[in-house]
Amino acid sequence: MKPTPINKEIVLDPKRYIVSETDEQGKITFCNDYFVEISGYSRDELLGHSHNIIRHPDMPKVVFKLLWETISHRKNINAVIKNLAKDGRYYWVFTEFESRSDTDTGKIIGYSAARKTISKHVIEIISGLYAKLLEIEKEKGVDASEEYLSSYLKNKDENINFQNFMENIHKFY
Ligand SMILES: Cc1cc2nc3c(=O)[nH]c(=O)nc-3n(C[C@H](O)[C@H](O)[C@H](O)COP(=O)(O)O)c2cc1C
Repeated sequence: MKPTPINKEIVLDPKRYIVSETDEQGKITFCNDYFVEISGYSRDELLGHSHNIIRHPDMPKVVFKLLWETISHRKNINAVIKNLAKDGRYYWVFTEFESRSDTDTGKIIGYSAARKTISKHVIEIISGLYAKLLEIEKEKGVDASEEYLSSYLKNKDENINFQNFMENIHKFY
């Protein structure tokens, strides 16, 4: 059963990365000690499962839709994500996602993610945006939230997509 979220933040060490790797289906094959410590789960509870185990209900679906569309095409992407620990607390992270391919066949063999802490200011802006996306998803579904996100980005800059936006997040805010 999923933990009930509580309104308490886990303060992350700015010097440490929370790292994990998956197979091509997204099942966790590796997590570093800091991942285990912050998530509150044992390594055994994490390995073999989807990262959905740490998915926070405040996260809009559209972010994961864009994440998977990007990495499954062998492109790397960054994303700001709110995660849920086993005890119900949350932690915001800036995450760098990468896909790993077989050097001979070019076939994707897995994905990796390295997460670090992010400034309060970015969290404030992004949490507002994600709350709006979630509200739209609940009312009208994920296509509508994707449309809202596109016009939000267009208003910032004609040529920006979600990928560049997340890459440049420190510059924007
Ligand atoms: C390498 C990798 C790391 C991921 N890390 C996270 C994460 O930290 N938090 C999260 O909620 N989802 C993460 N995901 C996405 C999950 O696989 C999943 O798509 C997401 O939690 C939404 O769950 P759902 O697809 O069951 O709705 C990651 C996926 C990959 C491939």
